[in-house]
Amino acid sequence: MSYLKRMMMSTVAAVAFAGAANAADLTVGFSQIGSESGWRAAETAVTKIEAEKRGVDLKIADAQQKQENQIKAIRGFIAQGVDGIFVAPVVATGWDAVLEEAKDAEIPVILLDRTIETANPDLYLTAVTSDTVHEGKVAGDWLVKTIGDKPCNIVELQGTVGSSPAINRKKGFEEGIAGHANLKIVRSQTGDFTRSKGKEVMEGFLKAENGGKDICALYAHNDDMAVGAIQAIKEAGLKPGKDILVVSIDAVPDIFKAMADGEANATVELTPNMAGPAFDALKEFKDSGKAPPKWIQTESKLYTQADDPMKVYEEKKGLGY
Ligand code: AHR
Repeated sequence: MSYLKRMMMSTVAAVAFAGAANAADLTVGFSQIGSESGWRAAETAVTKIEAEKRGVDLKIADAQQKQENQIKAIRGFIAQGVDGIFVAPVVATGWDAVLEEAKDAEIPVILLDRTIETANPDLYLTAVTSDTVHEGKVAGDWLVKTIGDKPCNIVELQGTVGSSPAINRKKGFEEGIAGHANLKIVRSQTGDFTRSKGKEVMEGFLKAENGGKDICALYAHNDDMAVGAIQAIKEAGLKPGKDILVVSIDAVPDIFKAMADGEANATVELTPNMAGPAFDALKEFKDSGKAPPKWIQTESKLYTQADDPMKVYEEKKGLGY
């Protein structure tokens, strides 16, 4: 089923749900990380659309990548007495105190797209996320299959230090290539999930690895860093997608363009619609007291150059990216 069709079907289902359950009486505060990537911008846009469909009064606070701003925003939402709080936690640790405050105020908290480390899982109602370890493993498995027995030096662009997707995508990728001694991660550094940092760090990798001639593949924890790195590879006089294979995560429109041009090889899709299932879970909890499962898992799908990238680009480009 096409991406557009899936989005439309979820829209139809959500409208039907909104009609039945009437979420118009809900006020939700969303502490968003910022806008470091195309995927993040799409998540914000889709959250607004999903709120509007259900008549939810949505208040968004942009934390500009800072946990302290997220904590302030959560305290602000508690003071306003919202019905629920959504948080996309920039890093995994350091949330217990503020989540205790939300719990004391009886305001359910839902984690979007990233998880936290806590000894008390009662501090949040549910987490709507993908399996980020699995995403990394899918990328690693793809590279193993593509490379076969050839020796392959890999460079890795990690996401934001301390964030759950950076920790888990690294772990999953390492699991994917484990047992294949011909595949080696020779350099690994954070590019903070941004295009500009991805480019800058890749420039360093290229210089350190014989102008890039000793690099066989790039694994980036998101597409934006991959797109920045592709630029750096071209500027170094090499062909991304051929001289250096490129595999990343998110499936934003720009990576499909790069795939269509033969400059990127594979991406693992992360849906930007985390909020739809979160609104539905919150509404049901408010109405009936029924707690959702602790983890609402979204799908992860691998796309390669064989998947008609230009068609996917056309389908995705108007969807808030
Ligand atoms: O938490 C999801 C990750 O955050 C996305 O993969 C990345 O693009 C974003 O910044």
